Amino acid sequence: MSAEIIDGKAFAAKVRGQVAEHVARIKADHGITPGLAVVLVGEDPASQVYVRSKGKQTVEVGMNSYEHKLDADTSESDLLALIEKLNDDPAVHGILVQLPLPDHIDEDLVINSIDPAKDVDGFHISNVGLLGTGQKSMVPCTPLGCLMMLRDHHGSLSGMDAVVIGRSNIVGKPMAQLLLGDSCTVTIAHSRTKDLPDVVRRADIVVAAVGRAQMVPGAWIKPGATVIDVGINRIDKPEGGTRLVGDVDYESCAAVASAITPVPGGVGPMTIACLLANTLTATCRAHGLDEPQGLTA
Ligand code: GUN
Repeated sequence: MSAEIIDGKAFAAKVRGQVAEHVARIKADHGITPGLAVVLVGEDPASQVYVRSKGKQTVEVGMNSYEHKLDADTSESDLLALIEKLNDDPAVHGILVQLPLPDHIDEDLVINSIDPAKDVDGFHISNVGLLGTGQKSMVPCTPLGCLMMLRDHHGSLSGMDAVVIGRSNIVGKPMAQLLLGDSCTVTIAHSRTKDLPDVVRRADIVVAAVGRAQMVPGAWIKPGATVIDVGINRIDKPEGGTRLVGDVDYESCAAVASAITPVPGGVGPMTIACLLANTLTATCRAHGLDEPQGLTA
């Protein structure tokens, strides 16, 4: 068997198209332009790349982008003051503080100072609690992107066995909540899980989000399973140079699975597309407008 490749790049372009269409409509009908504020503290090169990409795509779908680049030695109180200003600004519908933050800043304190209605990352404890209790919330972008691809591929996920490898607050835990919300039987596996190969072998859906290059071999995958690879790891090529790989061993998993996301071009592009979708959702909720269909959990 050779797996169907789930094309996240094409799917993300479709989502951005839907967002752009909806943005154009609310601009024309209501004179409202969604606004996304992105805050970057310091000069982490990977974060700078992400932030630039977010700003570009925000403008491309017709939204306003507000970038706040702060020095690495910005004080926690100055950052909290900026967030307070953004919380109070009616032109800003979504706020994202790029993580990681410098060590002298309390990340939880900062995230929980964002107005939950503008928390387009879905990291605020209110949103975490709302998601965990099956209520309307802002949903973290990467798991939302994975869910959209799974729903698109399978239709209903009801009754499927899903294994999420990784228990991070950003991906693993919210992913498990979303799969549970779609009536999967969900297992969260992690570094202390016993018999990980056997646990993974039970799964109709495997979501790998551990940050370890190629750690899941095809031998662990149940024939016909769907594999969603959240990992983005840079490894050395034998002939020199580097390349990006996921958390699963693509070749051997693709030989056994019925569908798989590649790295790059799978989950990655969906994350920013879902950030834009969340910003649109936040805008619609703020103004009491109909929410876009199919772009929320
Ligand atoms: N850093 C890496 N991933 C993310 C993300 O999804 N959101 C934020 N705010 N920072 C990140």
